[in-house]
Amino acid sequence: MIKFDSVNVVFERKNEQFTAVDNVSLQIDQGNFYGIVGPSGAGKSTLVRTVNLLQRPTSGNVFVNGQNVTSYKDKELRDLRLGIGMIFQHFNLIKNASIFSNVALALRASNTPENEIKNRVYELLELVGLKDKADVFPNLLSGGQKQRVAIARALANKPKILLCDEATSALDPDNTKEVIATLKSIKENYPLTVLFITHQMEVAKTLFDEVAVMEKGRVVEQGSCYDIFAHPQSQAAKNLIKCSIKGVIPEEILAHEKDLYLITYKEECAYESVISYISRQFNLDISIIAGNIEYIQKKPLGRLLISLKSSDEQSKAKALAFIKEKAFVHEFNGEI
Ligand SMILES: Nc1ncnc2c1ncn2[C@@H]1O[C@H](COP(=O)(O)OP(=O)(O)OP(=O)(O)O)[C@@H](O)[C@H]1O
Ligand SMILES: [Mg+2]
Repeated sequence: MIKFDSVNVVFERKNEQFTAVDNVSLQIDQGNFYGIVGPSGAGKSTLVRTVNLLQRPTSGNVFVNGQNVTSYKDKELRDLRLGIGMIFQHFNLIKNASIFSNVALALRASNTPENEIKNRVYELLELVGLKDKADVFPNLLSGGQKQRVAIARALANKPKILLCDEATSALDPDNTKEVIATLKSIKENYPLTVLFITHQMEVAKTLFDEVAVMEKGRVVEQGSCYDIFAHPQSQAAKNLIKCSIKGVIPEEILAHEKDLYLITYKEECAYESVISYISRQFNLDISIIAGNIEYIQKKPLGRLLISLKSSDEQSKAKALAFIKEKAFVHEFNGEI
């Protein structure tokens, strides 16, 4: 469990104060896969670094597993950090040490008895599917494999919390998938709370249970991953989600089409029945411009962009009212 209680981080910049984290309160339950998204400079890394006190809050409190850690020093701080694993965008592996040694290092740092290290390293490499790479050096591994080594190292001391700062952002799509699959399989077999920063919406969709959207130091929106993708409220969330569907519809097509409506289907609703029904019932010409169904937290989220052409405003209004009973519908203005 992680709890941020009115956390502020203020930096001194050229004699000016700059608030990087602005009064953030959030609770991340044990076992949750929790995402933090938001534009560059939003304060995501700074906030996450307060969990293991790589960054001390200027004010407010951070609770880890029920303990207020904000004023921890020396031994308490060392123990706190041993109980929190962290992985980064650029893996931070030691280049001139084998994969085995890279993982063993984390165990030596916590004074693990030398006779236990070998078994534990192989156990960890097995967990991330890299047992056969123990004697290889990092430069022979793909980015995805390097990140999996970093995950093994981060989990060496059996932390209850894993912090991930853009852990897949430097990877191509295949390597990203590989790392996501590894994290998912670990989560199924291991009681871990994961706090994961990303700007990749595809990653957010496949991984997170809950998500917080940050902008200018503040949490502007927070909730279940499904709800935020289905019905983003804040401009920041809308911008991020727009990025993930942008490019699906060519600008030229949008410029020619009029009377566009974006329908977001509720979970159980099927596309075809609504569209064919209103077309028949209200004698409307409907063209489907774009549509997709994706699955978030195993629940379907369907979106359909339609052009509703009619010279009869009254039947158009009736048709829209009918759709509204079954689904969420907005006049499309280029965003969700
Ligand atoms: N040590 C520091 N001293 C001064 N300013 C800092 C310091 N660390 C971060 N900042 C500033 O705080 C703001 C938030 O930075 P942070 O790295 O937390 O953003 P972020 O959301 O992680 O961005 P990105 O997506 O680019 O990683 C930025 O404007 C950054 O320049
Ligand atoms: Mg960052």
